[in-house]
Amino acid sequence: MKNLFAKYDIPAPRYTSYPTVPYWTENPTRDQWISELNQGLASEKSQWSMYVHIPFCETLCTFCGCNTSITKDHKRESPYVTRVLKEHEAYLKAAPALALRPLVNMHLGGGTPTFLSAFELDRLVGGLLKGLRKSPEGFEGSIEVDPRRTTLDQMEVLRKHGFNRISLGVQDFDPEVQRLVNRVQPFQQTFAITKGARDLGYESINFDLIYGLPKQTLETTKVMIEKTLELKPDRIALYSFALVPWIKPAQRLFKDEDLPVGAEKRALYETAREKLLSEGYIEIGMDHFALKSDGLAKAASSGTLHRNFMGYSDVRTDVMLGLGVSAISEAPGCFHQNEKVLPVYEEATDRGEIPTFRGHILSIQDRKHREQILRLMTKFTVELESEAQANDVRTFLHELIQDGLVAIDGKVLSMKPEGRPFLRNACMALDIRLREKAPNARIFSTSV
Ligand SMILES: C[S@@+](CC[C@H](N)C(=O)[O-])C[C@H]1O[C@@H](n2cnc3c(N)ncnc32)[C@H](O)[C@@H]1O
Ligand code: SF4
Repeated sequence: MKNLFAKYDIPAPRYTSYPTVPYWTENPTRDQWISELNQGLASEKSQWSMYVHIPFCETLCTFCGCNTSITKDHKRESPYVTRVLKEHEAYLKAAPALALRPLVNMHLGGGTPTFLSAFELDRLVGGLLKGLRKSPEGFEGSIEVDPRRTTLDQMEVLRKHGFNRISLGVQDFDPEVQRLVNRVQPFQQTFAITKGARDLGYESINFDLIYGLPKQTLETTKVMIEKTLELKPDRIALYSFALVPWIKPAQRLFKDEDLPVGAEKRALYETAREKLLSEGYIEIGMDHFALKSDGLAKAASSGTLHRNFMGYSDVRTDVMLGLGVSAISEAPGCFHQNEKVLPVYEEATDRGEIPTFRGHILSIQDRKHREQILRLMTKFTVELESEAQANDVRTFLHELIQDGLVAIDGKVLSMKPEGRPFLRNACMALDIRLREKAPNARIFSTSV
């Protein structure tokens, strides 16, 4: 197995979308995007979800690959909230069906959404929900919080608006690992926010953990999971550390030799996995775990698990509308991303415009491959469309097949249990755009 990790630990997309963002070529005009959005909402049965990006963080964690703006200036909260509300207004004008179709999920992500005070969170969420129809079959509101910068007031205000899911950034409990990544977060802080959320009635609590951080060992991983189990979150995202220093130079602050890689890195995941499974968690997809009672585990067992830009999810809606700087939206035939540079986003929203940066109109081929990759990522098996495709995939994956990691039986491609760590490698066989044109720069983190 050790050799296999060395052999297959290659740059590979995480497939939170297909085509992956570097392969977005068919840019929509703003009018085309709005038309695609309206089409996605045309059916009376259509439903949608909303993602709101809040980019601010007070300090930079040196492992971080997210789109952030580091500042301690809280005077920036109010103008940002005002601009997101303005963007929302522009959308309501361009796509009035947003007010008619049920909103199933609202997710606040970042950056750090709890950079915003309770007052600004209230103004933001209250303003966004005004005039919208929350799904009568169960609206879910979710937020990513940094326990170092979260108060009970903030969680309380969101509960009032129907928020019921909360995700805590934990990463690791080990003080030395925390110090090395510039994120000192005592256990007590994570404990207090977990307890506070439970007391307020949040139904699902998630912890984000990372394996592969500097100086993590089997021992520190065991402790990380033991401490996690003390608090028993409903869900756990155990992310592989994505080292992308060419995008995030801060990651250069720790030494390369501090990082576990290949088989050594994977052993951390396996150690965590074993402990979590023995405590009643179910493994979902390639990096998530959930208690049986949680929606994510239920979705996995009923075959409705989905994957989008935020990772694995138990809801799939016709449209996901992204608001805020750099936010990505998804309609059945089109992706759309907002301006990534904050001042440019600010200027566009000030003019009352939808702040389009780029996007991609999906071809019929793209839609087919998107569904195939989604199936493989969520179910570990997919039926290919023809003998010809099966032969092509067989040829592309012949080494993984020979090594007993994937199998093709007729037209059905499946991951073997031992092959699951190489799910991203297998998906590459279905990623025609990547196969036709290898990226000409380093873009993707490595697959293990
Ligand atoms: C937007 S942050 C979470 C919210 C909040 N800012 C916090 O840090 O607590 C989303 C999550 O992405 C994960 N993440 C960020 N950079 C990563 C990287 N380079 N590799 C793997 N996971 C990463 C972390 O687990 C983090 O909690
Ligand atoms: S991990 Fe969270 S708090 Fe740290 S820099 Fe990234 S987004 Fe900000």
